[in-house]
Amino acid sequence: MKAKKLVSLALAGAMAFSLGACGSSSGSSSTASSAEGEVVSKSDTASTTAAASTDSGKAIQADLSGKKVGISMPTKSLERWNRDGSFLDQQFKNAGADTELTFSDNKIDQQVKDIENLIADNVDLLVVAAIDGESLSNVLADAKDMNIPVIAYDRLIMNTDAISYYVSFDNYKVGELQGQFVIDQLDLDNAGDKTYNIEFTAGDPADNNATFFFNGAMDTLKPYIDKGTLKVPSGQTSFSECGTAAWDTTKAMNRMQNILGSYYSDGTQLDVALCSNDSTALGVTQAIESDYAGDNKVIITGQDGDEANLANIIDGKQTMTVYKAVKNETYVTLALGAAILNGEKPDESLIASSGWDFDCTYDTSSYNNGTAVIPSYLLTPTVVTKDNIQKELVDTGYYKMENGYPKAVG
Ligand code: BGC
Repeated sequence: MKAKKLVSLALAGAMAFSLGACGSSSGSSSTASSAEGEVVSKSDTASTTAAASTDSGKAIQADLSGKKVGISMPTKSLERWNRDGSFLDQQFKNAGADTELTFSDNKIDQQVKDIENLIADNVDLLVVAAIDGESLSNVLADAKDMNIPVIAYDRLIMNTDAISYYVSFDNYKVGELQGQFVIDQLDLDNAGDKTYNIEFTAGDPADNNATFFFNGAMDTLKPYIDKGTLKVPSGQTSFSECGTAAWDTTKAMNRMQNILGSYYSDGTQLDVALCSNDSTALGVTQAIESDYAGDNKVIITGQDGDEANLANIIDGKQTMTVYKAVKNETYVTLALGAAILNGEKPDESLIASSGWDFDCTYDTSSYNNGTAVIPSYLLTPTVVTKDNIQKELVDTGYYKMENGYPKAVG
């Protein structure tokens, strides 16, 4: 079901605020060291009764007092997870829960340890964005033994029957939007005999999302590659050839420098660098600045709306990003987590009862993690270019302009 709610964004914000604001917190919270691999935020007991009204006028009670929520994020070194971590932490705290938030420095063993510690600390719910979707089966089996429900956050966790739900954006759609953007920019349907050169940069093979992004873009562009309108001079068109371990900027830069050196140094024109996300787009942009001989403007795609990339978009160095409002992802996770902790079995009706002003789809077919299809709440991504940054990012309150460049709020 697709739900486009009529209530204003202000309501969602007010709702989240009221979750904390109408309660009487009797607890304390503390922020511990912010080094990776340590608990970043830990709050003690809070007693909060929260009520939020929906656009249907039916009140949802979300009282998570006495509950403890463990939030495991992959790393602080990729911009978005800092936002996800702090928004999630804040949402659950506002609802009266105790929280523990960890970042694992993109190290798989560290994340396993962090989750072990959260389990040992008797959390009632785990929210996990996996570094490596294949490596958490054992530790999550322990969570299951302890009856701790697990929400896979943003990235699907594979080969485990311990996860109950998945919250993310429509990951395939992200790639489709990037591919369609290229088609529209180059007017490929009316290209006639004209041909264009494109190179692909994909994400981390350990991240289940990465193939969805890549396939969404590749499936959209493949007809033009098959027809010969789009050419890939490097010949690198498979996910395994285009992947970037850990979504690392430097790795993406080095690979693109090699491609430029091997296939473009003879003056061949590069028209498009399709990058799955912003951290890789940053490296690819650097490679083009340093190692590309041509003087045409290369179309460069991205995803996330990282501040450095938005600055590049304003400066005309990157062409677009696919924006995902992670704050909305945390609203969905809070509503889902609260329902699970209340002993409910959330389904599609959670969307209607939550009163969100953003699109959210309940999907029970797309995400099979090797043990079952995991019921998923999927939000909708948006294309952002220089022309609509103000409308999509600033007017919506997600960013504010500082010295001509967008800075994330919150
Ligand atoms: C997220 C992207 C992000 C990437 C690297 C993916 O799992 O969905 O938004 O760019 O990880 O952090």
